[in-house]
Amino acid sequence: MESGYYNYRKEAQSLDSILKGRKKILEIGVGTGLLAEKVLELNPNYEITGIDFTPAMLDRSKARLGNRAKVVEANVLSMDLQESFDGIYSHGGPAGVSRVGKDYHLYSFLPNWEDSVKMLNNIARHLVDGGLLVLSIQGEETDADGEQDIGKGIVYEQQKHLSFLENQEM
Ligand SMILES: C[S@@+](CC[C@H](N)C(=O)[O-])C[C@H]1O[C@@H](n2cnc3c(N)ncnc32)[C@H](O)[C@@H]1O
Repeated sequence: MESGYYNYRKEAQSLDSILKGRKKILEIGVGTGLLAEKVLELNPNYEITGIDFTPAMLDRSKARLGNRAKVVEANVLSMDLQESFDGIYSHGGPAGVSRVGKDYHLYSFLPNWEDSVKMLNNIARHLVDGGLLVLSIQGEETDADGEQDIGKGIVYEQQKHLSFLENQEM
């Protein structure tokens, strides 16, 4: 699943094709619930739980998802949900993958490697045997797609910022 905040329907389709056949799903870093909502529109049979450690985001996701999903305040580092999931995904959330050229790097919002390992262990603890962890891939910034009208008068555009990096002494 590719990361991006402008085409949730496409990302939901990609996620649904990966998760097919799995029922109990956890989204880590559910945010305002936009992606979970689109996934549920494709297949209302998913039992989705979303966690997030930002109360303002949880207010929005609770309002958006209502009783279609369970939303819980928790930090992925310390969550202890007392249940296991068939699939766990993070889309722009605490863990992800970034693509640089042909290389793929695991990234996390956490400040150090030890916490990232702790997070992965805690995620694994919440998966059933054979459960799947799905991470979105953040591609290199590109201006190839041009401007996209994403509604409500907002225009989304990605641009390369490599010139900034190229000018830094490494
Ligand atoms: C960029 S938003 C993405 C939201 C949603 N997944 C989406 O695609 O729209 C990232 C979310 O991850 C949450 N988050 C970051 N680190 C977290 C952590 N350690 N535990 C729980 N949530 C976290 C933030 O509060 C934020 O709501």
